[in-house]
Amino acid sequence: MQTVHTIEAVRAQVRAWQQAGESVAFVPTMGNLHEGHVTLVREGRKAAARVVCSVFVNPTQFGPNEDFDKYPRTLAEDAQKLSAAGCDLLFAPAVEEMYPHGRTQTVVHVPGLGEALCGKSRPGHFDGVSTVVCKLFHIVPADIALFGEKDFQQLAIIRRMAADLCFPVRIIGVPTVREASGLAMSSRNGYLTAEQKETAAVIYRSLCAARDAILGGRRDYTVVAGEAARAIADAGLVIDYLDIRDGNDLTPATATCDFLVIAAAARLGSTRLIDNVAFFLGKS
Ligand code: PAJ
Repeated sequence: MQTVHTIEAVRAQVRAWQQAGESVAFVPTMGNLHEGHVTLVREGRKAAARVVCSVFVNPTQFGPNEDFDKYPRTLAEDAQKLSAAGCDLLFAPAVEEMYPHGRTQTVVHVPGLGEALCGKSRPGHFDGVSTVVCKLFHIVPADIALFGEKDFQQLAIIRRMAADLCFPVRIIGVPTVREASGLAMSSRNGYLTAEQKETAAVIYRSLCAARDAILGGRRDYTVVAGEAARAIADAGLVIDYLDIRDGNDLTPATATCDFLVIAAAARLGSTRLIDNVAFFLGKS
């Protein structure tokens, strides 16, 4: 696997592959890779002839009091994992390469989808994400791009951005990879102790219990959401939100929705964790 740090080098390689008739899959990440990221690369391998992965801790998607400075940067280990997973090219730009004129003045904003859930408690976060992913799609003109369903709202925003801006890229969503306890894998789990990781598994358990209650016939969504939030709070986490939403457009779920997502964010100590379960309701 080759590692490049410049826009010019990654573009030239991707173009050369495409001119030789090889399709290219792209996996954007912020590094500190775990089995969730590696699964995206493996899925990329199945879907295209070549796989490109980017590792870039994007400053514009972190709020002023968030963990940009302490976000783990582990490029040497990441490169080894990517190489073992069959990645062909690692793009690891410096901040100056991605933002040569300082903070970008051009912002890609996806209203509606970006305002609820995480958008509420992390103002500006999704503008940072959609802007950097837009830039990355220009830099890496891939045929396919893979994103995790763990970040359900992010995936919805990127799908919409790619459709609205006519990017000729097929977006593939990959199911969440979990620890045996059910805890969704995340680079931020590294901030937790072993005991806290066990505690944090209550999030997924509670989301599944809410989903099962709905699949069992409950339609009092506000009450079901409240029960799940209480179970998580009782385990010692501080709930940011726990919402039942239409899985297509993230508006509050109504009786007519047949694709639902139950999404939650909660803090354990100073670590913010997110998770969701998405499912179809059989029509009766
Ligand atoms: P990061 O958090 O590093 O995640 C990179 C990709 O891995 C995202 O598509 C994310 O949804 C996926 N991912 C993370 N944990 C996962 C898990 N447990 N199972 C499956 N997929 C998982 O998301 C970002 O970086 C950034 O916002 C980015 C899109 C790179 C823009 O900066």
